[in-house]
Amino acid sequence: MKALVKEKPEAGLVLADVPMPETGPNDVLIKTLRTGICGTDLHIRAWDGWAQENIAAPRIIGHEFVGEVVEVGGSVNTQDVAVGNLVSGEGHLVCGHCRNCQAGRRHLCRNTVGLGVGRDGAFAEYLVLPASNVWVHRNPSALDLDVAAIFDPFGNAVHTALSFDLVGEDVLITGAGPIGVMAAAVAKHAGARKVAITDVSPYRLDLARSVGVDLAINVAESSVAEAQTKLGLREGFDVGLEMSGRPEALREMLANMTNGGRIAMLGLPSEDFAIDFGRLVTSMITLKGIYGREMFETWYQMSVLLEGGLDLSPVITGRYGYREFDAAFDEAAGGRCGKIILDWSTEK
Ligand SMILES: NC(=O)c1ccc[n+]([C@@H]2O[C@H](COP(=O)([O-])OP(=O)(O)OC[C@H]3O[C@@H](n4cnc5c(N)ncnc54)[C@H](O)[C@@H]3O)[C@@H](O)[C@H]2O)c1
Ligand SMILES: [Zn+2]
Ligand SMILES: [Zn+2]
Repeated sequence: MKALVKEKPEAGLVLADVPMPETGPNDVLIKTLRTGICGTDLHIRAWDGWAQENIAAPRIIGHEFVGEVVEVGGSVNTQDVAVGNLVSGEGHLVCGHCRNCQAGRRHLCRNTVGLGVGRDGAFAEYLVLPASNVWVHRNPSALDLDVAAIFDPFGNAVHTALSFDLVGEDVLITGAGPIGVMAAAVAKHAGARKVAITDVSPYRLDLARSVGVDLAINVAESSVAEAQTKLGLREGFDVGLEMSGRPEALREMLANMTNGGRIAMLGLPSEDFAIDFGRLVTSMITLKGIYGREMFETWYQMSVLLEGGLDLSPVITGRYGYREFDAAFDEAAGGRCGKIILDWSTEK
């Protein structure tokens, strides 16, 4: 089969012929239909410091996908997942033995292995996953395949956005990347009062406007404090969603929260940085880190949000056949885009 492989410990990716993966007794074999390109995949292609520490070549990369089940292992309960099901997959493989796993808090597993990072991934014609990592789309005819392909980052957005009650609350999102924009759409859909989002990219701010944010702020030109005035806020934002990984974004967020405000932080900073802890303490701010998705409560929420009319289609801005992966990766790395999809179902 064809697969997108990090063959050697150096920059670049190769579309290679590799053996079909083996389906173990608890696994399912999935024929890949579409995949989404994530920042992680860009790090691996570029072979930056993070990739050098975390990837052992050769490795099939990729973790955002939708596909069709073509085989199930002998121990899999076919009432849970069966041949012909349309599925996406939870890309965090958990150990099942640590305290959190045993308590059913699998998203808090301390031994998580990442699909397409610590084991072979989804940028291939077929992939194998444990049946316990598969999410079956129960209403496939109503689901856009491109949206199904990005359930993994959509789940990051939902997990973060629904971490704190935001009905009737004023919400500040820092970073209008694909995940920030999806979180904004979720926050509006779920009943937030005002949703403001920041970025330094005019393209990304326009993308956020297309999902109906109340205010999109270019923080290279104006401040979040000015945005508060424009929105008629008197005491600051109630809920903050940090989705840029930038120190200055978290600092400015902290300075614009109401007392007792709650911040969920998804953005991954590349290094240590300082914040105003005095302000955090005296304003009694809650700061919560978010990693991945809750298994499988977040997945349930995603399906229900889409059934309820949440529209993510503006977030998908590029579509390529898998053979054009280099052009697709270049567009994703350029930043003037939302999510970029690779189609594995055609010979394009
Ligand atoms: N914790 C997790 O499980 C998890 C999972 C996926 C992604 N992430 C992280 O979440 C973040 C969002 O992911 P994404 O795919 O949307 O990333 P992205 O890089 O596409 O988006 C980040 C956005 O932040 C913007 N930005 C840069 N400086 C800014 C500033 N000062 N203020 C506001 N915005 C600024 C960038 O222009 C960009 O549009 C990234 O940091 C990513 O590494 C975390
Ligand atoms: Zn991802
Ligand atoms: Zn565990």
